[in-house]
Amino acid sequence: MTVTKAYLVAALAAATLIVPATHPAEAHGRQQTLRQAAPHHLRVGTAAAGGGHHLDQPYPDPFTYDQPYRRVLAQEFSSVSPENQMKWEFIHPERNKYNFGPADAIVRFARRNGQVVRGHTLLWHSQNPAWLQEGQFTPAQLRSILRNHIFTVVGHYRGQIQQWDVANEILDENGQYRQENPFIKALGPGIVADAFRWAHQADPHAQLFLNDYGVEWPGAKVDAYEALARQLLADGVPLHGFAAQAHLSMQYGAPDQLQSVLQRFDNLGLQTAITELDVRMTLPAGGVPTQEQLQTQATYYTTVLKACLAVRGCNSFTIWGFTDKYSWVPVFFPTEGAATVMWDDFERKPAYYALRATLAAAR
Ligand code: XIL
Repeated sequence: MTVTKAYLVAALAAATLIVPATHPAEAHGRQQTLRQAAPHHLRVGTAAAGGGHHLDQPYPDPFTYDQPYRRVLAQEFSSVSPENQMKWEFIHPERNKYNFGPADAIVRFARRNGQVVRGHTLLWHSQNPAWLQEGQFTPAQLRSILRNHIFTVVGHYRGQIQQWDVANEILDENGQYRQENPFIKALGPGIVADAFRWAHQADPHAQLFLNDYGVEWPGAKVDAYEALARQLLADGVPLHGFAAQAHLSMQYGAPDQLQSVLQRFDNLGLQTAITELDVRMTLPAGGVPTQEQLQTQATYYTTVLKACLAVRGCNSFTIWGFTDKYSWVPVFFPTEGAATVMWDDFERKPAYYALRATLAAAR
């Protein structure tokens, strides 16, 4: 058959008729989800609830048991962060024993649902197992314990993790290295560079991040992170990104300087990310937020999202859980709550709709 111009025009017209102009979800009158609304360069993530504070709650492990929860997790998000399942106390509970099962299940779920995974975390002062925290080790032993852990865990997930939070919360609010971190205490700050080098050797494709809270406004901590990032890059250390957790409380004011903070790291050639966003509030008597509180919360959420959207190398935006049902907030900040974008029954709050509209507008 000869393909003439007339044939092509006709074929094109026919094709146009059968190709739906809208996304199938819209065609059925349903609204888009967050991941559908998002611009293509941006991953929209959440923590996958399990371990940690959940172990003390009167419900089974959310990620493995709650089917409606899993459905929302799959539909709404294109990135998943294990909330606790890759932390030392969980994945390396005894010196010679690793427990990969729970994290493997999340990685499998993510693959099935076209999601990327953020690995969390390798070098932290918190949620370390007793054998490590209370063990009497020489500096040389600690160094080899960390090295083996990184090679084993990062190696186990090689090729399956988009971004690793290699170093979590390593600086305090004054920009000093946290001495509660057993590795920093015994080995000094140089261990941070080693952790990045080992992680990179174990998985050369994973993007390696510094991650912390209290970096949403400029100050001593951000200055110290910028100096550290410059130093690591000058030394040829495989550092790829800087992330702001963004655990916000409405009592401390809007995150209106976050974009300029992220931009400072973008200017160094680093990627940036929002990794643990939630917005807690002091609850009125009765425990139900006012409409005004919910509106303010929505504004905080979108301010953070817009900061990320405005910075070129910010391509990952993660909220720390999507339903109040499983949020860590009431457990850790007893007078505050309602910090996520959905109620316990997954009904959406104004913050959810505001995020979706902001994503759609940026597309
Ligand atoms: C929290 C989890 O959400 C809880 O389940 C756990 O009990 C404690 O840790 N910064 C981090 C996260 O980097 O890992 C923390 O997650 C919240 C603060």
